[in-house]
Amino acid sequence: MTIGEKDFTFGKDFLIEQVKKFHLPVVSSNVYEKGTRKLLFEDHKIVTVRGKRLGIFALTEPFHFKFLATQEVDVTDPIPIAQKMIKKLVNDKVDYIIVLSDLGILRETKLASQVEGIDIIIGGHSEDVLQQPRMIKNTLIVQAGYQGHYIGNLTVFSEVQKKIYNHELVALDTHFEPGTPFMRKLVSDFKEKLEKHETVPEKTQKNGKVPQGYETSSYCVQCHTKQTEVWKNSHHSTAFLSLYVRNQHFNNECISCHTVGFHKEGGFTDVRKAVVKNDGTFLDLSQLADTMILETQELNQDLKKLLKKNIAQFKEAIKATQEKDKKSLYEGQIFALQKIEETKSLKGSMLSFYENPEIYNFLRKLYIKELDKTKLAKNYWGVQCENCHGGRAGHPFEKGDFSKKVGTKACATCHNKENSPRFNLEEFHRVQGIHKSGKFAFICAEGKP
Ligand code: HEC
Ligand code: HEC
Ligand code: HEC
Ligand code: HEC
Repeated sequence: MTIGEKDFTFGKDFLIEQVKKFHLPVVSSNVYEKGTRKLLFEDHKIVTVRGKRLGIFALTEPFHFKFLATQEVDVTDPIPIAQKMIKKLVNDKVDYIIVLSDLGILRETKLASQVEGIDIIIGGHSEDVLQQPRMIKNTLIVQAGYQGHYIGNLTVFSEVQKKIYNHELVALDTHFEPGTPFMRKLVSDFKEKLEKHETVPEKTQKNGKVPQGYETSSYCVQCHTKQTEVWKNSHHSTAFLSLYVRNQHFNNECISCHTVGFHKEGGFTDVRKAVVKNDGTFLDLSQLADTMILETQELNQDLKKLLKKNIAQFKEAIKATQEKDKKSLYEGQIFALQKIEETKSLKGSMLSFYENPEIYNFLRKLYIKELDKTKLAKNYWGVQCENCHGGRAGHPFEKGDFSKKVGTKACATCHNKENSPRFNLEEFHRVQGIHKSGKFAFICAEGKP
């Protein structure tokens, strides 16, 4: 396996420690300790499989490291490193040369077209689901999505000719058992541990600059009531719920786009400190999400009705369809709805909001109502005003460096092709219609506050 920039979230030392502790077979050919030419990990491995010697090296993209909070490593241009490694492996008389890559599909394609001698690139980073491998010159590129949604299975028939292969992407959907009890326990223990972990290291001030600072919507509402109403009605305000139903609200990989100011000065730091009440104490949104659906000890009657209704609808839909994929999707949703009924909790139910829009809207209204009841000083959860308008501590009283207009680029930081494949700025995603000027595809509310 190899590494990408995300593996450095907790720093270089943490990563090295984990690799040692669990004896992970990490290969990495172009990542060095800062300011030295000392490689962090082995730059290649030779493995023998059925009598064939596979030479494996691994490449990571320097550009991805530019935005890391801590700069502890040097990552060098992958192309010359690839040329050097290929020379070495050819000298070692390997039968196959395989590259593990975190370059992303575009750069992998470029690598294959510019550098000769690589047989297979097992790609990553861009999280593409390649149903068929790409053959660029004599190099085969495969990628199998991300987060374990698929397993890629590539068989190469070396006896005949290198270029004859069989490739299969196996979707790890509900047809598969959710793992052995041992594995499931490992996962649930890990999530519990995350819950207790101080998730995000607080940022130190850089170059003596004043922290940018985030005020969050509870501040903006004082003057911009109209915009705040529109925002509350949009899905942005309730992005906590989406993570909570997946029990992923502790996962840094998800939090970044579902909160404000993640990894920025004065922004989101810690799950437990993300919502501050007027009296300075913290509000636990997990508890809020679970108590809001209860009337004393029982599930809210209206919610109960909606759950029953959707279960019945999905059962009908299963009967009506022949498609295997749809059937298993609906089965999954019935399972999720029943889980909420049984556990009286949303946590980890795996409910899909897209498949259950009525329930989502119902939950969103409850959630906003509960938050409005509690007087909040700050709330870093959800896509807040300042995700689009930039940190605004000091506004409107001080002359600050406040971004004046929201460019559409701002949307693309979160609405990327993995997390928002249906996003289409022109036609699809409008919260409140097109801005009068016709310039913006989205606006919080027309006119002055
Ligand atoms: C104390 C009242 C007040 C608060 C609180 C406030 N604003 Fe404003 N806001 C103003 C005023 C006044 C203007 C200037 C209106 C004008 O110039 O026409 C303004 C203008 C804006 C504008 C348009 C012009 C620009 O500067 O980009 C945006 C966007 C904006 N505010 C966002 C926010 C956000 C986000 C928050 C919360 C973090 C917030 N405001 C909190 C009073 C406030
Ligand atoms: C900080 C990340 C982030 C940014 C920036 C962002 N979004 Fe979103 N957006 C989200 C998330 C997360 C959701 C899903 C929330 C949920 O349902 O949990 C979402 C949902 C939406 C929806 C669905 C809302 C609905 O009511 O159906 C629209 C429309 C949308 N975004 C438009 C935009 C536009 C336009 C921009 C740029 C002006 C933008 N977003 C910027 C993260 C972001
Ligand atoms: C790069 C930004 C980004 C990251 C990282 C991210 N999301 Fe999202 N998420 C979005 C956006 C944008 C939407 C809105 C998608 C849309 O409406 O098209 C969204 C919507 C959702 C939804 C609502 C739709 C649904 O499927 O029911 C869920 C749930 C969700 N995200 C869960 C997660 C989880 C779990 C993670 C971590 C594994 C995660 N997100 C990481 C940006 C992100
Ligand atoms: C998804 C991104 C997004 C979010 C979230 C968002 N806005 Fe906006 N807002 C925009 C865009 C886009 C415009 C219109 C174009 C511009 O002025 O840049 C706008 C315009 C405004 C304006 C100027 C109004 C006008 O008519 O010129 C104010 C004030 C404002 N927003 C305040 C807020 C407040 C307060 C919140 C939170 C409650 C908020 N916005 C949340 C994207 C966003």
